[in-house]
This record gives sequence, C-alpha cells and structure tokens, in this order.
Amino acid sequence: MTDNGTIEQRIEQQVYERLSHVIDPELGRSVTDLGMIPAIKAVKSDDGANHYDLTVHVELTVPGCPLSRTISERITQAVLTYPDAKLTPNIEIGAMSRDKLEKLVGELKAERRQNPFNKPGTKTRIFAIASGKGGVGKSSVTANLAATFSALGYDTAAIDADIYGFSLPSLFGVHSRPTDLNGMLMPVVAWGSR
Ligand SMILES: Nc1ncnc2c1ncn2[C@@H]1O[C@H](COP(=O)(O)OP(=O)(O)OP(=O)(O)O)[C@@H](O)[C@H]1O
Ligand SMILES: [Mg+2]
Repeated sequence: MTDNGTIEQRIEQQVYERLSHVIDPELGRSVTDLGMIPAIKAVKSDDGANHYDLTVHVELTVPGCPLSRTISERITQAVLTYPDAKLTPNIEIGAMSRDKLEKLVGELKAERRQNPFNKPGTKTRIFAIASGKGGVGKSSVTANLAATFSALGYDTAAIDADIYGFSLPSLFGVHSRPTDLNGMLMPVVAWGSR
C-alpha cells in the first residue's frame, strides 16, 4: 500500500485520467465527460513484475453503433501507451441504461439551447446560402465553400435546410444516416473524423 492506495488503484485512476483525452467521434466530447466509463479494473498478472490486466468497461450511447470500433481502438491505444507499467487491455463494451442516456441527452440539449455563436469573441461565422429560385446552384456553392473552408483548416459544418430535396449528402458522398440519440441528431462526418 502507498499513500494513494494500491498500485492497482493508482493505475485505474491514471488510466481514467488518460481516457479523459479520448474523444467520442460523434459527440465531440471525452468519453469520461460523457459518463461512458463506469469502471476500470486493474489486476496484477502472474507473468511479470510490472504487468497488469486492465479491464475498461465502456457504456456506449447507442448500442452497436458503428463508431464503437473507433472508440474501442482509441481507448485501447490510451491503455497501451500507459508509461509506468505494461497493461494488457480488455475492453468490455456495453450500452447506457435508458435513464442514464436520457439524462445525458437532456444535459447536451440544454447546452445547445444557448446559442454558442452569440458569445463574445466567438470565431464561428455563419453563411446562409439562399435563393428565390430552385436549381440555381445553392447546394453546389455550399458544398464547395464547406470543402474549401475545411481544406483551409477551419472546422466546418454544413446544414442542408432543404427538407425534401436535400442534396448535400450525395455532394459529400455520405451514405450513412445521422445517429438519432434520443431525439438529438448527430451530424454525419465527411472526409475524415474529428
Ligand atoms: N456554376 C454552375 N454551372 C453549371 N451548372 C451548375 C453550376 N452550379 C450547379 N450546377 C448544376 O445545376 C444543378 C442544380 O445545382 P444545385 O443542386 O447546386 O442547385 P440548388 O439551388 O441547390 O437546387 P435546389 O433548389 O434543387 O436545391 C445541378 O445539376 C448542378 O450540377
Ligand atoms: Mg439544393
């Protein structure tokens, strides 16, 4: 025992701290912030002085979501690069309870209800592309502007406000549908992840 508890406890705490830098690609927030890591367990392995088996329990927001592999890989990477001991990762993937998900989505929605673009000093700029006539190139201009801003290094989002005749998904080559997180739609990422 040390002042900070057992070595296992210290490893668990430090891995949790490392996971605070692992970002959920869809929500753009760290997995610890989102309450996706309910437990971490380190158990000393028999075969080495400084070797531990480390189980990370992960609760996904959407069960079986296509991004679970990315999340799992990012967590595995954070465990494997732990500097002070050799850790063998075991990632246990589960899903959040309905109650927990509802609470999380409620919090995320509350944050979004405040317009972040009104804050003083915000660097975000919004461009509206509109016309009083159909088929004149609004979507083409939007997609090209978005691609250009992104290529210049700006984080860029495009919203196609055309409810019935939207064309931005095909212009961006996107085939997946946005994830519906309890009524909150998560934007689809094109040409690279966050
Ligand atoms: N600068 C351009 N020159 C020639 N054709 C173009 C140009 N820009 C867009 N187009 C073509 O015009 C058609 C309509 O373009 P686009 O879908 O961008 O227009 P839109 O204003 O978004 O249309 P909608 O009103 O249907 O949403 C497409 O076939 C597109 O390839
Ligand atoms: Mg259009």
